[in-house]
Amino acid sequence: MKVLESRFLIDFVNMVQEGYEQGWHERNGGNLTYRIKPHEVEAIKDRLYDRGEWTPIGASVPDLAGEYFLVTGTGRYFRNVPIDPEVNLGIIVIDETGENYKVVWGYADGGRPTSELPSHLLNHQVKKRVTNGRHRIIYHAHTTNVIALSFILPLKDEIFTRELWEMMTECPVVFPEGIGVIEWMVPGGKEIGIRSSELMEKYNVIVWAMHGMFASGETFDETFGLMHTVEKAAELLIKVMSTGNMKRQTITPQDFRDLAKAFHITLDERFLYEKDENGHMPGVY
Ligand code: 13P
Ligand code: ZN
Repeated sequence: MKVLESRFLIDFVNMVQEGYEQGWHERNGGNLTYRIKPHEVEAIKDRLYDRGEWTPIGASVPDLAGEYFLVTGTGRYFRNVPIDPEVNLGIIVIDETGENYKVVWGYADGGRPTSELPSHLLNHQVKKRVTNGRHRIIYHAHTTNVIALSFILPLKDEIFTRELWEMMTECPVVFPEGIGVIEWMVPGGKEIGIRSSELMEKYNVIVWAMHGMFASGETFDETFGLMHTVEKAAELLIKVMSTGNMKRQTITPQDFRDLAKAFHITLDERFLYEKDENGHMPGVY
């Protein structure tokens, strides 16, 4: 089967296009990776080549040994992916040590995988373990409103989670485990990848301050939907804050507890603190 006709590649390209249309992928901003299922690899095996060099990943991912990934190219524009997937995307395989990768398809004009490959693979490694292999997608986007919020809110999981939950009733249903937040760090390396993967142990979405978000999921729809929901909540919060008014009413901690009961979800009490008279987390700001 031709790689370009594979369902997973078509779904991947559609998600790239949707992300671009949201305005989250200026220039080469953002990247996407998909851990390909064994039967999907089998179906395209005769179209993969074996002439590339093993290249160091820059991170150690032994639990991903032998796995195949579809990966956006570094420096490539999301805008151009649907126009020419074979140039702007590639498939890589991880060696048996989990230290190196090899390109087996794509990057047709000599491209390479995203510079955020260490973060993507370290996150995949954690998610493969904690979801028993269910999660297959890691998505990085430069989401406008979440980036704006990272200049305003204290960079704490408890504050981002609570403020975004309050913006739409269904937010806690979509991300009941909350949101992790990482202070500004140099992108594209192992350190930010390790910090991200530590947070991915408990969250499905994390914020990189002044940069964007990373989301993890089982399907393309679910992962895109998570990114979209968090970013929409951030847009609402920016709008509310921009009025210059204090919130007159909001969803209270007890409302969240009632919601959790009705929707059979668990919401950690550390996000349900009583706020001070300024509507803030006491003792923080
Ligand atoms: P790449 O072009 O290497 O994927 O980098 C884009 C980006 O968003 C870095 O954080
Ligand atoms: Zn980025």
